[in-house]
Amino acid sequence: MSKTIGFGIVGAGLIAPFHLNAVKDSVGGKAIGIFDVCVERSQQMADKFGIKVYSSLNQMLDDKDVHVVCVATPNHLHKDTVIAAAAKGKHVLTEKPPAMSLAETDEMIAACEKAGVKFGCFVQCRTRKAIQAIKKAIAEGRFGTMLHADAYMKWFRPQSYYTSDGWRGQKQSGSGVTVAQGFHYIDLLQYIAGPAAKVEAKMTNIGHPGIMLEDDVIAHIEYANGARGVVQLSTALWPGTDIRIEINGTDGTAIMVGETMHTWKFRDSRPEDEQISKIGNASQATGAGGAADLGHADHTVVVQNMVDSINTGAAIVIPVAAVRPSLEIVLAMYQSAKYNKPISMPIKDDLSVW
Ligand SMILES: NC(=O)c1ccc[n+]([C@@H]2O[C@H](COP(=O)([O-])OP(=O)(O)OC[C@H]3O[C@@H](n4cnc5c(N)ncnc54)[C@H](O)[C@@H]3O)[C@@H](O)[C@H]2O)c1
Repeated sequence: MSKTIGFGIVGAGLIAPFHLNAVKDSVGGKAIGIFDVCVERSQQMADKFGIKVYSSLNQMLDDKDVHVVCVATPNHLHKDTVIAAAAKGKHVLTEKPPAMSLAETDEMIAACEKAGVKFGCFVQCRTRKAIQAIKKAIAEGRFGTMLHADAYMKWFRPQSYYTSDGWRGQKQSGSGVTVAQGFHYIDLLQYIAGPAAKVEAKMTNIGHPGIMLEDDVIAHIEYANGARGVVQLSTALWPGTDIRIEINGTDGTAIMVGETMHTWKFRDSRPEDEQISKIGNASQATGAGGAADLGHADHTVVVQNMVDSINTGAAIVIPVAAVRPSLEIVLAMYQSAKYNKPISMPIKDDLSVW
């Protein structure tokens, strides 16, 4: 019989309610408690969701009702929590990016492997139906030879977003648009069209004066399969429009806008194409104009998969090991922008990019 899987959340900021709502909507998952270094934030979230407040991370990790720890702290702080949770035998779901370097990511993966716990990542956009349809069509060869795989994220965040919390305005905390918001869409390209062979990127700040990080990047990816792609990421483009993922091959084109399949055309048209071309719901917000302007349905799929995989013993579908190549592309973009040259894979960490 399936057991109820308890979740503890670390970090009670913007994304925490998305985790808590996802657990609430899951079948077999139950939110147990929350820990934040800021007690008022934990208390507020606990009151809203009817869960416990822990006074320390260790208190959460000692709670036998907690089976999974969701890490929702700033980008540069994931590692210590992940390693502590694994050491206490808890499964872990970390927010993206997993960490700020490949070495830290590898350390976390190794710690979870050693402890025999599952280690997943909230790159929840992978679960969108349109992305799954594109992934399947690629596996079936429907695109023919892949030519282009592009991501466009033309979003807007006001100046106040970057000054609202210390870490949000700091490049070394992982708040630049490439590793923060853009991570999802680089991850989608890697998931669909990767691995990448070479990247080149130009980064700048065009809309947030005095904030010492890039809010705009234009990059080029050469994939190992011979395709090429453009990546445009920005938080400076008012009012912000839905992201676009565009895949073009010799035999087909697919374009996802937000979570909606905007274009789905193949030389070998099939009966199922009519349904696939209707995927999505144009009214579902996907983050273009504000950080909280987002649904939690994709997070729910990730949480549900963790619950099911603990109960069945099956592997989780988005382990951090499968997200590492996306982080590598992101880090290569920072290196390319810093040294003004293309960067080939594999790369070595270069912490001076921060
Ligand atoms: N998957 C998504 O779509 C998505 C969207 C937004 C943010 N995120 C990710 O979620 C994470 C958190 O982002 P956010 O926007 O919620 O940030 P936030 O600043 O709103 O919240 C972070 C919280 O962590 C707390 N905190 C800091 N250090 C801590 C520690 N050592 N232990 C416990 N709590 C600690 C802070 O007090 C704060 O309340 C980041 O990794 C971010 O990239 C993901």
